[in-house]
Amino acid sequence: MNLILVGAPGAGKGTQGEILSEKLNIKTISTGAMLRAAIKNETEVGKTAKSYIDGGKLVPDEVMINLVKERLAEPDCENGFILDGFPRTTAQAQALTESGVKIDKVLSIEVDDDVIVERLSSRRECSKCGAPYNIVFNRPEVEGKCDKCGGDLIQRSDDNPETIKNRLDVYHTQTEPIKAYYEELGLLVKAYGQVEVKDTTKEVFKALELEV
Ligand code: AP5
Repeated sequence: MNLILVGAPGAGKGTQGEILSEKLNIKTISTGAMLRAAIKNETEVGKTAKSYIDGGKLVPDEVMINLVKERLAEPDCENGFILDGFPRTTAQAQALTESGVKIDKVLSIEVDDDVIVERLSSRRECSKCGAPYNIVFNRPEVEGKCDKCGGDLIQRSDDNPETIKNRLDVYHTQTEPIKAYYEELGLLVKAYGQVEVKDTTKEVFKALELEV
């Protein structure tokens, strides 16, 4: 399956993407994670992306389109992929369609803005493998350590109140229109975010017609 995940920052794309990746045995490609790795490694893309990400703005379309096209051409995407965080503008969605990549479904995870702010403020991620955690809703077994690889849990630099507000504004103005684009193509399905991760997963599986 070639799947796109759409949703506000903090809607649970990374969390559900990881669960779906295990279920479907296909890779999740998170453009946010790719950009954070590029910043850490001080690549040209990373240098361009840093100020946009720290301000809660979108990285320019041409940078993102090239990055994703190259990534999708790698062998581990041959049997399917889950795109988390791309496309994020109508121009990116159109570029993906024009590149000939076939998309089977676009899943929108719907969550209210006030829930997002609370979730992102308490989010942590593994500094080694990137697995997502939350110190209120999705705690690790050992405080500060990743259940999967034992790496240290850290807070993202864009998870502060002012940047979260900018990211939400950007989502509503620039990213939400892609839902209408994919609805017209007959590809959009919706899952409503729940209080518990496992309950959201049930909604996600139902929307994608997968067995639990
Ligand atoms: P990116 O990394 O994609 O960030 P985002 O879209 O803002 O989404 P998040 O990763 O913050 O949230 P998520 O939906 O994955 O939620 P999560 O599962 O972690 O992008 C970062 C930046 O990179 C962008 O701002 C932009 O600058 C740039 N960028 C990336 N792609 C781009 C593109 N295509 N074009 C241009 N620029 C681009 O969950 C959040 C928290 O909630 C976690 O703590 C989790 O444990 C918890 N949680 C999840 N589900 C539940 C639940 N049901 N109940 C309770 N808690 C839950």
